[in-house]
Amino acid sequence: MKRIAVFTSGGDAPGMNACVRAVVRTALYHNVEVYGIVRAYDGMISGDFIPLEFNSVSNIIQRGGTILKSARCDEFRTVEGRRKAAKQLKKFNIDGVVAIGGDGTFTGAQIFTKEHGIPFIGCPGTIDNDLFGTDNTIGYDTALNTVIEAVDKIRDTADAHDRLFFVEVMGRDAGFIALRSGIAVGADAVLIPETATFVDSLIKRLERGRAHRKTSSIIIVAEGDDGGGAYEVARKVKEKYNQYETKVTVLGHIQRGGSPSAYDRVLASMLGKAAVEALLEGRRNEMAGVVNKKVAFTSFQRAIKHNREINKELLHLAESLA
Ligand code: F6P
Repeated sequence: MKRIAVFTSGGDAPGMNACVRAVVRTALYHNVEVYGIVRAYDGMISGDFIPLEFNSVSNIIQRGGTILKSARCDEFRTVEGRRKAAKQLKKFNIDGVVAIGGDGTFTGAQIFTKEHGIPFIGCPGTIDNDLFGTDNTIGYDTALNTVIEAVDKIRDTADAHDRLFFVEVMGRDAGFIALRSGIAVGADAVLIPETATFVDSLIKRLERGRAHRKTSSIIIVAEGDDGGGAYEVARKVKEKYNQYETKVTVLGHIQRGGSPSAYDRVLASMLGKAAVEALLEGRRNEMAGVVNKKVAFTSFQRAIKHNREINKELLHLAESLA
């Protein structure tokens, strides 16, 4: 392998830059040239490739976002789009590709490798933590810390004004951010897509809290919860239970930005290095992850989201401490 490419795709996640840096530095260490593909599959199709040198990735380990930009690309879902992308990779003599992204990225990579034979290795870059085959995805830890910092502040107001707050966090298909942050902030309930939301049992829980002389309450709602998101759940609760003044906060994209945590920087560095070395060893169509503190590889097929289950013990913990 003489030349590889790297790109970042899907929702940006803190630590993507640290991963790009690790890919570039590891490749150069092994005398392999590196190109960055700008705007993910969009750039692969249009041929937006830039050479990356040692210095191209200096001073980025601490930066959120991604220097390679990111995009969600509809054209890559088509046979013709993938054919154009393969043509560009061949034109630039790319022997292997490191894809940093989430389930959509790996779904595309998997189909592409089968059709065109160019090896791909993935690094899990998404705040959602919804990939099987890694304990954490790159960006999840930072996003959790962002949520915790925000909810702690909201709690001050909830407490000062005796209010009930519904705080919506990201995760349209997965409740990992909601569940773990809910435990960390001591939420009274955590509503996630993986479990059914019943307004009546939520109200019972609020009543129990009242009976324990609670004067304020925080409920974390994953954006993809079957109750319809924080505004909708708040509306339904208010209809039947109006003991509290109720407020809704949607945290939104502040969860995706910012400087990566120490954990995410180290994880991203480990996985970027592992991905390049995997390509050099002849691996393909796999995601590099960290399981029990060790690098492990999982096929794209298994890694993509629906294989990953919510941790029932954590769910029980959230409920029993609320
Ligand atoms: O996959 C990451 C994520 O932040 C999800 O949690 C969220 O549902 C989605 O991306 C939002 O995407 P966009 O920024 O394209 O609206």
